[in-house]
Amino acid sequence: MRRPFLSLLVGALVSLSAQADGGMWLMEQLSQKYSSLAARGLQMKEYDLYNPNGTSLKDAVVSFDGGCTGEVISSQGLVLTNHHCGYDAIQQLSSVEHNYLEQGYWARTLQDELPARGVVVTFIDKIEDVTAFVQGQLRQLKGGTGMEFLSPSYLNGLARRHYSERYQRGQQGIELEIKPFYNGNKYLLFVKKVYSDIRFVGAPPSAVGKFGADTDNWSYPRHTGDFSLFRIYADANGNPAPYSEQNVPLRPRRWFDISTAGVQEGDFAMIMGFPGRTNQYALPSEITEWRDIDNTIRIRMRGLRQEVMLREMLADPKTNIMYAAKYARSQNGYKRAIGANWGVSRPDFLRRSEELRSEVERWASGQRDRKKGKVYLDGIARIEQAVAERAALRRQLWWLDEGLWQGIEAMQAPGVDLPLMSLERSFRSYCNKDYSPAVDAKIAKVLLAEYCRQVARADWPEELARGLARYGSVEAYVDAVYAGTRFTKEEGFASFTALPAAEQAKVLETDPLARLATSVRSKMRQLQKALQPFDSQISQGRRDYLAGLGLARAAQGGAGLMDYMADANSTLRFTYGQIQGYSPRDGVRYTVPTTLQGVMQKEDSTSWEFVVPERLKEIYRTQSYGAGKRWASKQADGSYVMPVNFTATTHTTGGNSGSPVFNAKGQLIGINFDRNWEGVAGDIQYLPSYQRSIICDIRYVLLIIDELGGARRLIDELSLVP
Ligand code: ARG
Ligand code: GLU
Repeated sequence: MRRPFLSLLVGALVSLSAQADGGMWLMEQLSQKYSSLAARGLQMKEYDLYNPNGTSLKDAVVSFDGGCTGEVISSQGLVLTNHHCGYDAIQQLSSVEHNYLEQGYWARTLQDELPARGVVVTFIDKIEDVTAFVQGQLRQLKGGTGMEFLSPSYLNGLARRHYSERYQRGQQGIELEIKPFYNGNKYLLFVKKVYSDIRFVGAPPSAVGKFGADTDNWSYPRHTGDFSLFRIYADANGNPAPYSEQNVPLRPRRWFDISTAGVQEGDFAMIMGFPGRTNQYALPSEITEWRDIDNTIRIRMRGLRQEVMLREMLADPKTNIMYAAKYARSQNGYKRAIGANWGVSRPDFLRRSEELRSEVERWASGQRDRKKGKVYLDGIARIEQAVAERAALRRQLWWLDEGLWQGIEAMQAPGVDLPLMSLERSFRSYCNKDYSPAVDAKIAKVLLAEYCRQVARADWPEELARGLARYGSVEAYVDAVYAGTRFTKEEGFASFTALPAAEQAKVLETDPLARLATSVRSKMRQLQKALQPFDSQISQGRRDYLAGLGLARAAQGGAGLMDYMADANSTLRFTYGQIQGYSPRDGVRYTVPTTLQGVMQKEDSTSWEFVVPERLKEIYRTQSYGAGKRWASKQADGSYVMPVNFTATTHTTGGNSGSPVFNAKGQLIGINFDRNWEGVAGDIQYLPSYQRSIICDIRYVLLIIDELGGARRLIDELSLVP
């Protein structure tokens, strides 16, 4: 009799202590975590980190251009983010004469700061719990789709109707958003201030900002100076305003002090930022689905595609440039999927998921009121049933999506299914200066052949079946499509647009590429539509499952769902841990930090990924680590070491790129930019021994601005603390 009780108790203790690590917490969970933070060394008051009614450190953390995080680092609105986050903006501002990606850029004066059109920087002014209000509205809803509880348009409609008067009246640049947490068991309203006059201030050359490129992506030991600088401009009153010459640098409410003291293994580290998406409450069947369908198909199709791309790129320098960014994008998701499956296959990986499910099952089946417990058990059953029933359709969709839709560029081609107005946009989306129909056709042959091997003929897009029947082989069919279409060349498209409308319609119906692309898209839509009911079942089931988890936890004396992290959803979070290396495999141990010496060791003049700028080599040779070598670490023997990157046990994901990493005093010590590939299954479950955030030491950022960029003006505006 005592045994089960004891093991339950031990189980509870273990899961409580495991909880201390990992987690992307909501700002309001700070009070609950504060003692744990203090025990780990935090020296700040709670309200200095987050103060709902005043200014705090969180006011220096911004969402950068939608998908990334940034931080304000001066009293004049200077924002630090990653090089890969500023990449698109920097590319837009670049030309052949001024290639800022290749050469880097440092604005010498305010006048040299370049408007980055389209980039926005968002502050979170206020966060309000609106759970009771939203759930009340949902209860009153008649009819509907049953999916309103997660629908951004429904929730933001509520925000507009009910909170606009209070928060937006007479204000510029304020946006409101209501977001669901714990799959609709909690709702928060975010009052956001959005600045749209953002200017590019500086960035190192890619040889520093993207050093190691694809080979080093998702890995450590790392040696990348992945940062860029922007500045927020506002009107004379400090309010958001569209670009204008009259605008002035924003005087922010709060900015980060920067520590030049250096960091050591074991030091406390904390991160705030905007993590994008996690799936911490996936049931075991969902996890194996992710591994066996999503990741496995992605790895297979991208592997095949990249093999062809790389062969073509290595054979021709021009193709190499044209396909560099496409290859990088493909490879980023490919390597991530490999890491995810590696993580999922760790012994015991499914155990936490199984334990959470049993916790709910045990509690729900123990309810006296049978009906009450049934909701939660049904929630679990609905998810599992939907996962089982959607498997075949989902597999089809992934083969089609990864293989044809994303894999073959020309599947974006004009077709009868697109509105006339968007034909030009569809054509230019792939057929631009970086497009090679020859390469695309080679890729198409490989991917179509694999698709046909994997998917039953009855499920192929109709036009593919027709084409293959007619030409007899994938090779012959693809050759016919690319030879017979107007839509792989500028002249072809020009001759098309010159036709009268009726003739154009006829071309769209007969052109072999237009026909294939249309058929692929139609199949995609058909599969997405067929899958939708299952996705709804899963979302609704998970809402109930999570509600049950919260009740089960409360029944054990916990705080309910708030004891758990809500899945990431691009809202402001904090995570904490310590600076630490890791050992992903027996006999391998990665240490912190990496140093400038490592950059020199990796130099490879035959590979574009590992070029080291002459000036950086000179800095290393002459140890020009700032006046008095102030950016470097003095060793016991009196020598100096220049740190570059380090890792920490913080729990981060995509979207945390650019996030501030700060010490126990709230001073900036680094900027987050990646995770190790062994740790990406941390999106399902935090992996204390395998998973690390990869961070650029702030002193390397300072060294590059100061010595490589010679941008003293920027150093002078920072608040450096020794
Ligand atoms: N792996 C990082 C992230 O997930 C960096 C990606 C940018 N770098 C690249 N080579 N694609 O977003
Ligand atoms: N590089 C990722 C980003 O852009 C962060 C890596 C991760 O932790 O997934 O947000």
